[in-house]
Amino acid sequence: MLPRGRPRALGAAALLLLLAVGFFLFGGDLEYGRLRGAASLDGELTRDHNRSACLPLRSLLPKCELLHVAIVCAGYNSSRDVVTLVKSMLFYRKNPLHLHLVTDEVARNILETLFHTWMVPAVRVSFYNTSKFQAGAVSWIPNTHYSGLYELLKLVLPDALPPDLARVIVLDTDVTFASDIAELWAFFAHFSDKQMIGLVENQSNWYLGNLWKNHRPWPALGRGFNTGVILLWLDRLRQAGWEQMWKVTARRLLLTLSSTSLADQDIFNAVIKEHPGLVLLLPCLWNVQLSDHHTLAERCYSEASDLKVIHWNSPKKLRVKNKDVEFFRNLHLTFLEYDGNLLRRELFGCPSQPPPQAEQRQRALAHLDEEDACFEFQQQRLTVHRVHLTFLPLDLLPSRHDVTLVAQLSVDRLQMLEALCSHWPGPMSLALYLTDAEAQQFLRFVEASKVLSARSNVAYHVVYREGPLYPVNHLRNVALAQARTSHVFLSDIDFLPAYSLYNYLRASIEQLDLSSQRKTALVVPAFESLHYRLSFPTSKAELLALLDAGSLHTFRYDVWPQGHTPTDYARWREAQAPYQVQWAADYEPYVVVPRECPRYDSRFVGFGWNKVAHIVELDAQEYEFLVLPEAFTIHMPHAPSLDISRFRSSPAYRDCLHALKDEFHQDLSRHYGAAALKYLTALQRSRSST
Ligand SMILES: *[C@@H]1O[C@H](CO)[C@@H](O)[C@H](O)[C@H]1NC(C)=O
Ligand SMILES: *[C@@H]1O[C@H](CO)[C@@H](O)[C@H](O)[C@H]1NC(C)=O
Ligand SMILES: *[C@@H]1O[C@H](CO)[C@@H](O)[C@H](O)[C@H]1NC(C)=O
Ligand SMILES: *[C@@H]1O[C@H](CO)[C@@H](O)[C@H](O)[C@H]1NC(C)=O
Repeated sequence: MLPRGRPRALGAAALLLLLAVGFFLFGGDLEYGRLRGAASLDGELTRDHNRSACLPLRSLLPKCELLHVAIVCAGYNSSRDVVTLVKSMLFYRKNPLHLHLVTDEVARNILETLFHTWMVPAVRVSFYNTSKFQAGAVSWIPNTHYSGLYELLKLVLPDALPPDLARVIVLDTDVTFASDIAELWAFFAHFSDKQMIGLVENQSNWYLGNLWKNHRPWPALGRGFNTGVILLWLDRLRQAGWEQMWKVTARRLLLTLSSTSLADQDIFNAVIKEHPGLVLLLPCLWNVQLSDHHTLAERCYSEASDLKVIHWNSPKKLRVKNKDVEFFRNLHLTFLEYDGNLLRRELFGCPSQPPPQAEQRQRALAHLDEEDACFEFQQQRLTVHRVHLTFLPLDLLPSRHDVTLVAQLSVDRLQMLEALCSHWPGPMSLALYLTDAEAQQFLRFVEASKVLSARSNVAYHVVYREGPLYPVNHLRNVALAQARTSHVFLSDIDFLPAYSLYNYLRASIEQLDLSSQRKTALVVPAFESLHYRLSFPTSKAELLALLDAGSLHTFRYDVWPQGHTPTDYARWREAQAPYQVQWAADYEPYVVVPRECPRYDSRFVGFGWNKVAHIVELDAQEYEFLVLPEAFTIHMPHAPSLDISRFRSSPAYRDCLHALKDEFHQDLSRHYGAAALKYLTALQRSRSST
């Protein structure tokens, strides 16, 4: 079994500690708190009440009932927010959940991959296409709110969600849970026959309409309601003709009012003002709305030690100043950095079918022999890494004859990114192998860097760390699969390409008329510098001068010459035109190939042979290798990775690598028959020489 107990316990302990601190901050000795203005709640809840008063509520909830949650999410940044929200929800939940995600294309691509690879038990995810509703249903409503059209989609949920879905909790992406969502679901049991919408009062004075001279908000009951957390009784809304109801109200008001400033919230409030009987008022703790200058939110939580949901309200609010915000921020940061892998735990007491990928993996793991010297390798291969594609916004213009630089890195190579950006102005697709906490560190790193934050054509894909060995080829495949150009430059993070390489490659692809069908691998000759402060050559002539002066060398000329010998550096010196070279054993050049090229063999983890196997695959598929006369890339020095050190020091590690190579060759023979013979012979020769 996997050693999962300890880190989980640590994470949970850290959180408990944090919550305990919060409890003291908010005074465990205070009265439990009064539900402000909860006049419409039934008798039992309107009285002043204490902790034990919550018990009857809890017991209304059938154990293991499936709870439905809907979230509207569009774009890159909101997709990150959703993950934090979902982590907080999963941390406290005890019930199976069904997430209904209404997304644009961007968010769908990200979240589909994320949930598929996350494999959380007892969580189902369904996607709904925003563009289907946006066009007709809500785009006629003028609005000036920062979250734009998407928030308005909350209005069409009764029609957009499946007709047999009766009740749902709707959440904004900027809320964080501090308790079990089942307690919120339990409020459905408190709806009267006529009530259909559960909401918390708006904790600001916006709808009172006195914020500034001529401030004319949309009509609302009192201070209105906040729609960051909504309980929707969909059945009843459909029966009551909700769609008609809100459209009529909105159309009428838009005759006299201009656009909505708060999107869906304005319309919900206007409808409710006309039909107050629809609403069940929820306790303010279920949507504590943070703001700088409004005291109402503060009154809500400062009276209560039992905070339920924090609502950040706008992208800026993480920086609000009020006395308790430190506690809220810590809660939020805890979930930002919380190891999502720990949420793969089974639900206690609610049997559930594990996701099919998880089941397969369990079965395969059960067959492994822990005594096997290569157990770690076998185990790493079966690991399903959680993947968050395009972690940061991306803005790529489609263009023909274009090349994406593909590479992978871990947190200790982040400092290569700025230099790489200055050498390569074109698109990049980079896989980052990080923990959840390191992913936040990475965000801060990008935000603090002028060079990096100015780039919108670099896609960063986070693959979350798991297991002892670096899954180098899996990372390369993740980055490769996300490239959007006709060609890819398969590089490594510690290489800096010639400043001119990007434009030169594009021009070469065009001149050589390399369509994506043509099986050509353009070879970019590789060099190495032993000096951190290299004055980087700006032309081939300068590079040759440095080479002659001994400041540069051909890559790994001393420890692994066979990796690049076939490139024929002597010929390259003189070459004026591209020339073809032949594959030879252990050849591993840096190449530019069509995006549809073969994937890397993800069996190869850690250090050794991972690129060699890919080049063999290219050769087996009859790619021709063409060396470009003006192209070059230079390896910059750095401390050796942990895996290289292990490789060099451990015979067992090398034996496992040999075992992998054997497997790889068996597969090659199966695939390519007699044509694979030359690779086998090469392997035998290289083995007898090591
Ligand atoms: C707490 O609530 C329970 C049930 O409503 C009540 O019996 C009890 O007296 C209350 N305790 C305090 C300290 O108010
Ligand atoms: C998205 O998030 C990044 C990282 O926090 C930030 O730098 C960027 O400004 C955000 N973009 C938008 C459109 O909010
Ligand atoms: C969503 O709808 C748009 C427009 O109808 C369509 O182009 C797109 O392919 C759909 N996306 C998915 C994932 O179904
Ligand atoms: C209520 O109104 C404010 C306007 O001050 C708005 O920003 C917010 O979205 C609404 N909800 C709040 C503050 O809880």
